[in-house]
Order: sequence, then structure tokens, then C-alpha cells
Amino acid sequence: MVGDIIIVGCGYVGTRLARQYLGLGQSVLGVVRTQAGVERLAAAGIAARRADLAGEGLDALPLDGALVFHLAPPPDQGREDSRTRRLVEAFTRAGQPQRLVYISTTGVYGDCGGAWVDESWPARPGVDRSYRRWDAEETLRRWSDASGGELAILRVAGIYGPGRLPLERIRQGVPMVRAEDSPFSNRIHVDDLVAACMLAMERGQSGAVYNACDDSPSSMTDYFLAIADAAGLPRPPLIPLAQAQGQVSAAMLSYLTESRRLSNRKLREELGLILRYPSLADGLPSCL
Ligand SMILES: NC(=O)c1ccc[n+]([C@@H]2O[C@H](COP(=O)([O-])OP(=O)(O)OC[C@H]3O[C@@H](n4cnc5c(N)ncnc54)[C@H](OP(=O)(O)O)[C@@H]3O)[C@@H](O)[C@H]2O)c1
Repeated sequence: MVGDIIIVGCGYVGTRLARQYLGLGQSVLGVVRTQAGVERLAAAGIAARRADLAGEGLDALPLDGALVFHLAPPPDQGREDSRTRRLVEAFTRAGQPQRLVYISTTGVYGDCGGAWVDESWPARPGVDRSYRRWDAEETLRRWSDASGGELAILRVAGIYGPGRLPLERIRQGVPMVRAEDSPFSNRIHVDDLVAACMLAMERGQSGAVYNACDDSPSSMTDYFLAIADAAGLPRPPLIPLAQAQGQVSAAMLSYLTESRRLSNRKLREELGLILRYPSLADGLPSCL
């Protein structure tokens, strides 16, 4: 591949992605919002630049002809992703990337009533968080159409990995809803997501969307019980959904209003991803 790698939003996933490219001898620049982020990346041997998608610093980034991963989250409120809009505006001043891979979420599909969902399923966001992601996708599609810059979008399921398990919540004994009230949900191990990001950059069809998840949809309840068992912690108490208000976080409650089983066939067949961790049972030992 030609062009330098720039990872905008170089946090948990981005740092692992940067390490993979550095290992291949590629030049990588990690972009973060805070000075603490810059120092964290420097300590990991990753060249870092501070720029805020909601503030200053974007115009100075070496974006012209670059291979850009956009992993920075949208703002916390509203239905628009003003940060992605500002990033695209900056391209007109700092230079157009050759290709951009965006990490969206599977939330853009909304509630699918437990159906199997591939990338042809219509996007019907159900909550503001998902509208913001849809807005980011649409902003980037408009950029790609207008500039000719290549774009691949990964719609990513719940990310887990080392240091990214809800162990503290389980230790505190916070309840989870009982299995019969728990809708289908989907996950991906961070190492498989990093591999998917690299393949999307290398060979994703421009304009294409790929679901990024493992082979094994389950439920949020299964997820918490499996982690508790694997970590040797007491299982969380299980309560009916009707009693969960006030006992379970608002964010968790909103996740529990949507049910989908995601197909990863396109990710495997078109991008050629061979999952290292096809299920949570395969992936959990690497996290503990
Ligand atoms: N958690 C999930 O299950 C899940 C599922 C699907 C998609 N995603 C999305 O996947 C992406 C990567 O996740 P992650 O776990 O790696 O996230 P993370 O660890 O929270 O890292 C986010 C990075 O973005 C940077 N950032 C935040 N606001 C920014 C801004 N205004 N301008 C520039 N940089 C900014 C942060 O900088 P600092 O280091 O300076 O704070 C940080 O480096 C995120 O967009 C996340 O929402 C997550």
C-alpha cells in the first residue's frame, strides 16, 4: 500500500492497530484529543499528534494521500456527528486522503426483531446514539462521492478484549436482565477487529459496508454470565426487564431494546477474514 497510515481516534482499538502496522514496517501517526493520549502513545512507541475533531489541530495533519482510519467517537448528544463533519471539512484544507476506513456500529440497523441481518438490511436507527453514527456514515459517503476518495465502513458489534471486560460491574453485583428478556446481541474480539480494519484498508470495495462481528450471536445475559464464570466471579443476579429501570444503566437498557443477529459472511468471504476467535468462549481466555 502507498500512503502513510493515520489513525484518528487512536485509543484501545487504534493502539493495537498501530502496533500491527509498525510491526510490518509501515509508518503510522496516531491522532488523539488529549495530551495524556499523546503521552500514552509515545510510551507505546507510536508517533502521536494532538488534534480535536471538536476543536483545533485538524488542518495541520498530513492528510493528503494518506490512508486514514477514523475511530473517534461522535459527540454525546444530538442526531448529527459534528466531529466527522469537521474532519471532512478539514480534508479540503489539509488534503484529501487516498482511502478512509470508518468504524461505525451495528446500532444503525436499529431493532430487527431478532432477525439475521446482513449489510443489505435497511438502516433504521432507533436511538440518538445510532442516528449520530448514521450521520457520520452519510457524511463520509458524500465526501467519497464528491472527492473520489475511497471509503470502506465497518459496522462493529460490541468490542471485547484484554482490559475490556465488565469485570468491575460484575464484582459490584449489578443485576442483569434474565435470559428470557434478553435480546440477541453480537460481539467481536479486538484482535479480530484489528485484522478486519487492516483488510478493509487493503482490499475493501470502495463504498462497501461490512458487518464486523464473530460467528456467534448470543445475548447480553449470556455475555455477562460467561465472563463471570470464566473470571471465577459470582454470577450477577438476574431480574425481569420490567424491574430493570433504576437497577441497570440507561445505556444498558437502551441496548436491551434492540435485537439482531448479525451475519459476517461478507467480512469472511469478501475481505477474507479468518476469525481467530469465532465465539466468546474462544476469545475469553485471551482476556483474563
Ligand atoms: N465499545 C464498543 O463495543 C464499540 C462498538 C462499536 C464501535 N465502537 C467504536 O469504535 C471506536 C474505537 O473504540 P475504542 O474502544 O478504541 O475507543 P477509545 O479507546 O475510547 O478511543 C477513542 C479515541 O478517540 C480519541 N478521541 C475522542 N474524542 C476525540 C476528538 N474529539 N478528537 C480527536 N480524537 C478524539 C480519544 O483520544 P484520547 O486518547 O486523547 O482520549 C481516543 O484516543 C469508537 O468510535 C467506538 O465508539 C465501539
